[in-house]
Amino acid sequence: MEIIRIPRIMQQISEGHRLKCRSIGLVPTMGALHEGHLSLIKRSKCENDITVVSIFINPTQFDPNEDLDKYPKEVDSDIQKLKDAGVDTLFMPDAVQMYPDGFSSSIKVSGLDEKLCGAFRPGHFSGVSTVVCKLFNIARPARAYFGQKDFQQTQIIRRMAADLNIGCEIVVCPIVRESDGLAKSSRNIYLSSESRAAALVIYRALNAAADLIRSGESNAAVVKKKMNDLLVSEPLVSEVQYAAVYDPSTLDELSQISKENLLAIAIKIGETRLIDNMLVLI
Ligand code: PAJ
Repeated sequence: MEIIRIPRIMQQISEGHRLKCRSIGLVPTMGALHEGHLSLIKRSKCENDITVVSIFINPTQFDPNEDLDKYPKEVDSDIQKLKDAGVDTLFMPDAVQMYPDGFSSSIKVSGLDEKLCGAFRPGHFSGVSTVVCKLFNIARPARAYFGQKDFQQTQIIRRMAADLNIGCEIVVCPIVRESDGLAKSSRNIYLSSESRAAALVIYRALNAAADLIRSGESNAAVVKKKMNDLLVSEPLVSEVQYAAVYDPSTLDELSQISKENLLAIAIKIGETRLIDNMLVLI
């Protein structure tokens, strides 16, 4: 596996593959790789000639009071995992390469970026869209792979790719969970064993809401209340940022259960922010 740190070199490599008609699959990550990330890589390997993974802890998507400095860094074990997974190229730039002096552009996907997580993390999605657009321009992928775990992120990137004629297929892969249902996340390591047990309330709330919908409940407020009641009943949950039923395309909250329902939750356990979601189609 080659490791490339300079955007211009990565671009030349990608251009070389394109000239030889080799399709590139890109998996953007911030490292601390787990089976969620590896599932995206596996899918890319099946669908493309070349798989490029990026590891870049993107400073512009963290608020000043967020966890940028303590975001987990596990470079050596990440490299081993990528080698074992058969990745062709690891693109691992540093912040100065990505944001040199004078950098002043940003992409804003209006509307979608203000809902759900956007209301609690101002500027976050602009940071994400800008870095993902840069990664697309650097790696020139035919397809790029994202996890449903970050549902809003996938919708914003799809919108950006369509609006800006990026010409890269956005592939969304299912959420990979621990055996007890907790969605895998690089941030789970922040949880003590007590908090880790408390975090299971998220999956319980999603399933309880899905069961209500499947048993015929049509009032989204009832489903929302069920989720919120369960979440606040867990003493270690310090904040429920949102927990409701949304239209998966617009991310607007639904008052009536519809054909396609997105159940989405963001809570804090202590200082650790956790998100999860479930699509319920009826
Ligand atoms: P990161 O949190 O490292 O996640 C990288 C990719 O892995 C994202 O597409 C995310 O949705 C996916 N992923 C994370 N946990 C998953 C799980 N349990 N199951 C399936 N997929 C999962 O998301 C980012 O990085 C950044 O915002 C990034 C897109 C790299 C831009 O900086």
